[in-house]
Amino acid sequence: MAGAGSTAGREGWSSRSAFLMAAIGAAVGLGNIWRFPTLAGENGGGAFVLVYIACVALLGLPLVLSEVMIGRAGRSDAATSIANVASQSGKSRRWGMFGGVEILAAFLILSFYSVVAGWALHYVIVMIFELGEVVGQGSPFAPAFAGDSQDAITGRMGELFANPGELILMHALFMAVTVMIVAGGVHNGIERAAGIMMPAFFVLLAGITIYGAFTGAFAEAVTFLFTPDFSRLTPVAVNEALGQALFSLSLGSAALITYGAYLGDDLKLAPTAGMIALADTCVALMSGLMIFPIVLAVGLDPAAGPVLVFQSLPIAFAQMPGGALIGFLFFILIFFAALTSSISLLEGPTALVIDRVGLRRRIAAPLVGGAAFLIGIACALGYNVWSDVRPLSFWPIFAENDILDSIDGLTGKVMLPLAALGVSLFTGWRMDRGLMAAQTGLSGARLALFRGLIAWVAPVAVALILLFGLFPGLLV
Ligand code: PFF
Repeated sequence: MAGAGSTAGREGWSSRSAFLMAAIGAAVGLGNIWRFPTLAGENGGGAFVLVYIACVALLGLPLVLSEVMIGRAGRSDAATSIANVASQSGKSRRWGMFGGVEILAAFLILSFYSVVAGWALHYVIVMIFELGEVVGQGSPFAPAFAGDSQDAITGRMGELFANPGELILMHALFMAVTVMIVAGGVHNGIERAAGIMMPAFFVLLAGITIYGAFTGAFAEAVTFLFTPDFSRLTPVAVNEALGQALFSLSLGSAALITYGAYLGDDLKLAPTAGMIALADTCVALMSGLMIFPIVLAVGLDPAAGPVLVFQSLPIAFAQMPGGALIGFLFFILIFFAALTSSISLLEGPTALVIDRVGLRRRIAAPLVGGAAFLIGIACALGYNVWSDVRPLSFWPIFAENDILDSIDGLTGKVMLPLAALGVSLFTGWRMDRGLMAAQTGLSGARLALFRGLIAWVAPVAVALILLFGLFPGLLV
């Protein structure tokens, strides 16, 4: 079993920026590009955005700092790290249980995350053909899907979902790439992948946003995203904003603790945590500014829901100049964002298998990825052959959920908040104060502010997510 000292020889990040790229890559993902615009669209735009930002600042940031700090001080997988820090603080190692919840959550999220990322991969391939077609016709800046009606493009998504073979194939490809990178190790796998994909991601994000600003309904999108209409802000929307902040920052799911464990002792953690939270939030907002001008320009509904990215955008790309090229670049961008996140989802459980079971990384990564792949197959089949299966039918709030939504609901509404509650209570009330000061590099008023947020604000807010997530009846 791994104790505090037994991992001294483990691999680490080669620099601060390597860690930052990997951690920002973990945070920035489908949550930013697919879920955030969807939720903002469904919940009236500006007011939701404001509440979301407040959630990130008041509980997201302190939790990011806590998790990275616990990882660095505990130097092991998420469960063992928390237990190690508890020992160092003279408290019960049982707090490690919350790390166990994090690892299980990561494993379950990975299973459906890879299925959704597979949709993006499918569209990358579709767009390569579209691009080939328009280039073949001599006009690389033509729209995509020439001649297809809106209904025909809408039908494409239906066809994809009705086709288990295609869904599973894309899911398999995406998972295989994730496994190969994680099996390559912290330095040669994760760090190298993030170092290539994250800069490319930012270039694409900036490029497509500028394209939208010039060709799309940019002013309308800015108004939609930043003019708060508080009448649209329901308690359910506040609850969604809190949950989204946890998911988007990769909290409660082992990623940040595990990545923190590979950090050197000299790095100042507070500013680093600030950069992760800031970058993730900026990307979410930028994604809104990238997607809504395009969707609004062709008169589509910003509140389309989960099909916003996979159906509304292709319809828009069919009507916009250069739509074939932009569409291709857009789905590549989603693919990169999803891959750097799925890597971090796989690394958490893989680290546990390496540390606790003693398997080599090259065996552990495919084993964990393979198991998550099998659960993901059930998620994919939930769209076709098992479309009437409701795995959590006994649980009123999840009773209507298909297989993928059940796992999403169970992790997002129950497990992540539970883990985040444990981590905030542990850091705020149990962790040794001297150790905390030394790890964060904070002192005086800043340390007091951090402690106030992590000991009081975060647990109360997270407990509310849990309570209202489980008993939404209390909200009305
Ligand atoms: N933060 C990722 C996103 O926004 O898509 C999802 C995620 C990654 C959640 C890693 C949890 C995690 F550990």
